[in-house]
Amino acid sequence: MIFGASGDLTKRKLLPAFWNLFLQGLLPKGFAITGYARTQMTDDEFREQARESVKLYCRMPPDDDAWTEFAGRLSYLPGEFANEGAMKRLERHLASVDEKFGTEGGRFFYAATPTTAYPDIVRRLAEAGLHRDAKIVFEKPFGHDLASARELNAAIHEVFDESQIFRIDHYLGKETVQNILAFRFANGLFEPVWNRKYLDHVELTVVEDIGIEGRGAFYEQTGAIRDLVVTHLFQVMTFLAMEPPVSFEPNRLRDETVKVLRSAQLCDPTQVVRGQYRGYREEPGVAPDSTVETFAGLKLEIDNWRWADVPFFLRTGKRLAAKCSEITLKFLKVPFNVFRGTDLDLPMRDHLTIRIQPNEGITLAVNAKKPGPGLELERVTMDFDYEEEFGGQIADAYELLLLEAMEGDHTLFLREDGVDRAWEILQPVLDNPAPVVEYEPGSWGPAEADALIAPHRWHATPAHAH
Ligand code: BG6
Repeated sequence: MIFGASGDLTKRKLLPAFWNLFLQGLLPKGFAITGYARTQMTDDEFREQARESVKLYCRMPPDDDAWTEFAGRLSYLPGEFANEGAMKRLERHLASVDEKFGTEGGRFFYAATPTTAYPDIVRRLAEAGLHRDAKIVFEKPFGHDLASARELNAAIHEVFDESQIFRIDHYLGKETVQNILAFRFANGLFEPVWNRKYLDHVELTVVEDIGIEGRGAFYEQTGAIRDLVVTHLFQVMTFLAMEPPVSFEPNRLRDETVKVLRSAQLCDPTQVVRGQYRGYREEPGVAPDSTVETFAGLKLEIDNWRWADVPFFLRTGKRLAAKCSEITLKFLKVPFNVFRGTDLDLPMRDHLTIRIQPNEGITLAVNAKKPGPGLELERVTMDFDYEEEFGGQIADAYELLLLEAMEGDHTLFLREDGVDRAWEILQPVLDNPAPVVEYEPGSWGPAEADALIAPHRWHATPAHAH
C-alpha cells in the first residue's frame, strides 16, 4: 500500500523498484500493490502511470507478458488522509484484494507523502484496524525540526510499535555506502589509519546538476539542509566515523551509528554556508523572495578519541556543475619532507576517495617517483572500479531497502534515537540560519563554501578531478 501514490517518489523510485523485484522473483507470490492519494485516478490510469514510470526510470523495460501480470496486481483508491474514517473504504478494498490475490492480510504500508500527513495516516489506519501486525515505512525527512520529529515519533508510537516502523534513508541502500563497512572492517590495512593520527579532515559531497524538478512546493518546505544534510549526509557520515560494531545485528549496528551522532558537536551556525541558485525564485511553486537554501556547506566536529580535531566538511546542492556523491579522506602531511624542493603540502596530500556515484569505486591517490633522472614526484592513483570488478548495473537502493523492510530487517533503517539526535545537531542552524547567498547554476556553489574548507580545497571540483 503506497500513500502518496500519485507523487514523484512513487513514480521515480517505488514503482520501478517493485517492478524490478517482481521480475527477479523477489516479491511474495500473492502480492498486490494498492496506491492511495488525494488525486482522482482510476485503476487503469494508475497502471498507465506505473508503465510510464517504469519506462522512464527503470533499467528493465515493461516487457509485455510480465507487465500484464504485474499491472493486473495494481489498483488505486483516491482518498483523504485527514477525515475521520477516511480509511474504512481502504479496509474494504484491501479485503477484496486479499480475496483476489491471496495476500492473506499481510500489510506493508509506505508513507510517501509529506511528513505532515504521517500523523493522519497512522491515526486513520488505526481507526480502520489496519495497523495490526503491519509494517510501515516512512520516507525522509522525518519531521521538520527536533520538536516536530519528537511529536511525530510520539504520534506514530501511539499506533505502531518500533518493531513495525521503518524510517528509510535510501543512501543506506546504496551498495557503495554499505561497502564502507566492508572496506573498513573486512581489511586490516585501512582501519589503523582511519583516525586523527593520520587524517587531516574528511569531506562528504552529494551534489546534483539537476534543479528542483518541479518540486517547488515540497522544496520550499524543505531546503537542502532538511532534504539532504540531516538525512543522507549524516547517515553516510555515521558509516564513515563509527567504531566497529559488535555484529551486524540491527541494534548493534545502530548503537554505533547513533553513538557517532551523539559524539558530534551541535552544528555551529557560523560554520554553515547556505546558497541558492540564481533562478530558483522563478521556479513554479517558489516564493519570489524565498530564502530557502538549495546549497548547504558545513563543518562538523566529532568529539571522541578517534576524531577529535578532524573536521568533517559536508556539502550538498542543486544545479551544480555535476552529479556526484563522494567521500574524500585527506591524510596528514608527512612528518618530514625528504624530497627537498617539492611542496608535499596541500595539492600533493595523499587521499582516499570513495565514489558513491557515479563511476562507483574507490581511489587511493598517492605520490610516486616520476620515471627519469632526479627525484621528481607525480600523483598516481590506485583504483577499484565497481563495474570492472563486478560488472553489470548496481541495483537501485530502493529495491534492496523495500525487500529488507518487507522481511522485517531493521539494520539499514533509522532508529528513533538516531533521528532525534540528527535534528538536535542541526537545530542551532535551523534556529539561526546563515543568510542565503546566490550562486550561478552550473558552478560549484558559493565561494563562501570554498572559504569554509580553506586552506584545503573541495575534492571533485574540476581542479581536483580524478
Ligand atoms: C532525495 C532528495 O532523497 O535524494 C532529492 O529528496 C535528491 O532532492 C535525491 O535529488 C538524490 O538521490 P540520489 O540517489 O540520486 O543521489
